[in-house]
Order: sequence, then C-alpha cells, then structure tokens
Amino acid sequence: MIRSRIIGTGSFLPPKVVTNFDLEKIMDTTDAWIQQRTGIKQRHIAEPGVGAADLGAPAARAALDAAGVRPEDIELIVCGTTSPDYLFPNTSCLIQHQIGATRSAAMDVNAACSGFMYALSTANAYVRAGVYKTVLVVGAEVLTYLLNWDKRDTAVLFGDGAGAVVLRAEKGEHGILTTHLGADGGAKDILWMEAGGSKCKVTAENVDGPERDVRMKGTDLFKRAVVVFGEAAQKALEATNMTVADIDLFIPHQANTRIIYTAAERLGLDREKVFVNIDHVANTTAASIPIAIDEALRTGRIHGGDIIMLAGFGAGLTWGSVLLRW
Ligand SMILES: CC(C)(COP(=O)(O)OP(=O)(O)OC[C@H]1O[C@@H](n2cnc3c(N)ncnc32)[C@H](O)[C@@H]1OP(=O)(O)O)[C@@H](O)C(=O)NCCC(=O)NCCS
Repeated sequence: MIRSRIIGTGSFLPPKVVTNFDLEKIMDTTDAWIQQRTGIKQRHIAEPGVGAADLGAPAARAALDAAGVRPEDIELIVCGTTSPDYLFPNTSCLIQHQIGATRSAAMDVNAACSGFMYALSTANAYVRAGVYKTVLVVGAEVLTYLLNWDKRDTAVLFGDGAGAVVLRAEKGEHGILTTHLGADGGAKDILWMEAGGSKCKVTAENVDGPERDVRMKGTDLFKRAVVVFGEAAQKALEATNMTVADIDLFIPHQANTRIIYTAAERLGLDREKVFVNIDHVANTTAASIPIAIDEALRTGRIHGGDIIMLAGFGAGLTWGSVLLRW
C-alpha cells in the first residue's frame, strides 16, 4: 500500500521573544495567571512587515534539507494558515517562490488552529490517490498582527512561527495510517473575527472597533476542545484497530496545557507520552503541530517505528487527527 511518509521536518520562529513579564508591563495581567491558566511563559513575535511566508519559507527549507529533497522536486505545497500575507495570492505561492519550488502546485488551507491537520490530510489524500509523490506541508502564522493588545483574554495566548514537513509516497507500513477531520460551523461565535472578509469590510469606522478583535468564548471553547480533540484521536485508534497503549507519542495542538492534559486524561494516556512545548512558543495556530513535531524529533522524543498521534482543534469549530508510524 502507498503511504505518505514524513521524510524531513523543519521549523522557524521569529527572533523576537516576548515574555509574560513583558506583557505585565503593557496590560493588566501576571506571569502567574498566564502560566497557571495556559502553561505559556513566552512567545515569539514577528516584526511588522514580516508575513507568514517569511516564516514558512525558512521552515520549508529546513524540512527540504532534512529530507534531502530539492525544491524543484516538490510537486505540491499545502500551507495551513489563518494569517496569510495577502488576501490573494495565497501564502503557498509566496513560499513556493521564496524556496524555488518552481514545479509545484500551491494551495492554502484555512481551518484556523486545525489548519495543519487539514493541510496534512489533504496532502496525504493526494499522495494516496497517486496524484503526487513529493509534497511539502507547511503551517505558517503571524497571528499576532490580529491581536488587540488591550484585550488580555486573547492577547496573552498567541505567538508566531512556522513548521514544515516533506511527505514522500512510499510502499510499506511507515507513514500516515489514518486521518480524521471534523467541523461544526454552528459554533462560529466561539472564536472568530468579524471584519476583514467579504461579509464585513474593514472601514474607517470599524478598524479599531470590536469587529477587528479576536472574539473568543474561552470557557465554551475549552469545554468543546477537550471533547472533540479526544474523539478525533479515538476515531484514529478505532480505524487502525489500535488502543491508547499503542501510542508512543501524542503531539497535540498547543493551545493550553490544561486542555492538552484533560484530553490526554480522557483518552487514558500518560502525561509522559504527551509532547508539550507551549511554554516557549505559545499558541502558534496552524503552525503549532509542525513546530512541535520538529522539536520532538530534534530532542529525541521520536524514534523510527514509533506510533505518533497528532490532533488539533480550532475556530470553525474544526478539529482533526492524524495517526502515523514514523
Ligand atoms: C482563555 C482561558 C485561558 C481563560 O481561562 P479561564 O480559567 O477560563 O478564565 P476565565 O475566562 O474564566 O477568567 C477568569 C478571570 O481571569 C481574568 N482574566 C482573563 N484573562 C486574563 C489575563 N490575561 N490575565 C489576568 N486575568 C485574566 C478574567 O477577566 C476573569 O476575571 P473575573 O473572574 O474577575 O471576571 C481559557 O478559557 C482557555 O484556554 N480557553 C480556550 C482558549 C483557546 O484554546 N483558544 C485557542 C483555540 S485554538
């Protein structure tokens, strides 16, 4: 059977670090509150003028180097992003140009924090269908440009960054075993931004108004997240006749350590098998899972043959899981 196997990973974080103590100076918050409620200690923030592709391209180059693949061998780029450089063209095209992947098709996927799960599943479907053999999947975000730094409930949560993986079609038992995506568009109001799209344009009147804020019902989102997250992971296990005991490492979307550990507990998974790096990167939206995969690999948490569960959730509501054998 043809599977898509991750043959290289990379990540890139913008150099500027903003700690919780830095935020204490500009808003009514404390390091203790942020750490206790979210697990976050610091985040990386892109300078003005830096777009998602400027982070995605170095992450992609690192993944290509690790895979030993030339940019011109990439047939498709799929980029998960909620903070594209422009309304159009898409960020994948910009990454394609920056890395010189001259022969590839390029598409973006917007599923907010589930973006990488959707992007990876899309790429996997192309590989499994025999359409493409070598695909670059990127999660790239400069979500902090959307934040209102006067809104402490959302401003403390996010950071910028990018991660990338190279997928290669391979016969055998290694690679992606199953993918599961879900959505509930009825839950739009749990996490959304009103102005900036076709339905509600940015105007002189609303540009600094609540229409331009990230609006979040944090507690509702928390409750939904722990359920959909775990269910997506459970479905992946069922589809492969595996149990929680088979999982060597769970790499979840990094939104909040309490959400992550509650979901792991519901699954019956030991904390030692959960990869968490939210303390130093915060929530990087669609980039969080590929950044975490790259870090897990570089720090020796992933070994050949390991069963790895990836799972994410985000605005939409959207969610997804990918189970793979490394
Ligand atoms: C946002 C979140 C951390 C808030 O934690 P919580 O325990 O639910 O806290 P609450 O929203 O109930 O707020 C508790 C208090 O802290 C205050 N508070 C909110 N943000 C604060 C901050 N940054 N610093 C200090 N206090 C803060 C609130 O105003 C509230 O004060 P009050 O009791 O006087 O009204 C939590 O709901 C969460 O993580 N939700 C999911 C968010 C998420 O994952 N988003 C991304 C999805 S991909």
